[in-house]
Amino acid sequence: MTVVLEYDNLTKEYRSFASRRRVRALDHFSLQVEAGEIFGFLGPNGAGKSTAIHLAMGFMRPSSGSGRMLGKPFGRASTRRRVGFLAENVALYHRRAEPLVRFYGALNRMGGARLSQRAREVLEAVGMLDQAKGNVGKFSRGMLQRIGLAQALVNDPELLILDEPTSALDPVARVMVRELLLKAREAGKTIFLSSHLLSEVELVCDRVGVLHQGKLVRLGRTEDLLASAGQTEIVARGIAPDGFAGAVARHGVVTFTVPVHQQQAALERVWSLGGEVVSANPVRRSLEEMFLEVTGAANSTGGAR
Ligand SMILES: Nc1ncnc2c1ncn2[C@@H]1O[C@H](COP(=O)(O)OP(=O)(O)OP(=O)(O)O)[C@@H](O)[C@H]1O
Ligand SMILES: [Mg+2]
Repeated sequence: MTVVLEYDNLTKEYRSFASRRRVRALDHFSLQVEAGEIFGFLGPNGAGKSTAIHLAMGFMRPSSGSGRMLGKPFGRASTRRRVGFLAENVALYHRRAEPLVRFYGALNRMGGARLSQRAREVLEAVGMLDQAKGNVGKFSRGMLQRIGLAQALVNDPELLILDEPTSALDPVARVMVRELLLKAREAGKTIFLSSHLLSEVELVCDRVGVLHQGKLVRLGRTEDLLASAGQTEIVARGIAPDGFAGAVARHGVVTFTVPVHQQQAALERVWSLGGEVVSANPVRRSLEEMFLEVTGAANSTGGAR
């Protein structure tokens, strides 16, 4: 497996000169993002996600430890050209959309007819071709985010680093971005994205990592993290709920959960009672449940109740 983005025991401290306090945003953080995957980088506000991204982009230097992007130490201009980056707070020059996207392409040494064509392609991909002549200064937050994405895609990057790419987008645009990411993966690109929209992450990410107080507290394939501890949900028709522990009757069906090793016995009971099994599926927990659990938020919200 080729590693495209790598953090190696990296610590980043911010110093506040006013208060002389130090904030440790990343604490001996290690991670390897592999070629061709969509990696979801999760974590509560202030966990250190944007810090990790800014370090990879070479905007600042780690306090200790190191990292590599596309095989080179962080901060090399030559690798920057092979990467597409969307910042958390899109700040763009007040220019018309199309020249602006072309400007970012030119920064990556693109030019001529190829750049003009590519700029229109990416504006179309983010649904902004109609607004190509509009001034970005007058765009809404979601429109800015779309232009930000177009800018990140213009150089056809091998690695896309996106800091909350869909936070301002409407549902239609989110679907569009999801398709765009899947298409990029199909084309062999690697995508590293931070997001708080866990249901979206669940849909597109091959692997996720959860950062909490600068440390990686969970890492794994999305499907593995969502698999529950061996429970099956059984939905049946034509039986009464009593007699099945925890069973709920709704819309003419009865739903209950049993440990996997009791599944066969439970199905046979349904049949012996003259019922019909509609479905029997492994219980999947949501990414949100996993997130709350590993960041300790599940306990604190429970305590607040
Ligand atoms: N320029 C800075 N100077 C001082 N402290 C900073 C700076 N940038 C970030 N921090 C601190 O570093 C920690 C991590 O911040 P970071 O922005 O990386 O979190 P995040 O995971 O991206 O959060 P969010 O989900 O809110 O975007 C926070 O405690 C934050 O206050
Ligand atoms: Mg952030």
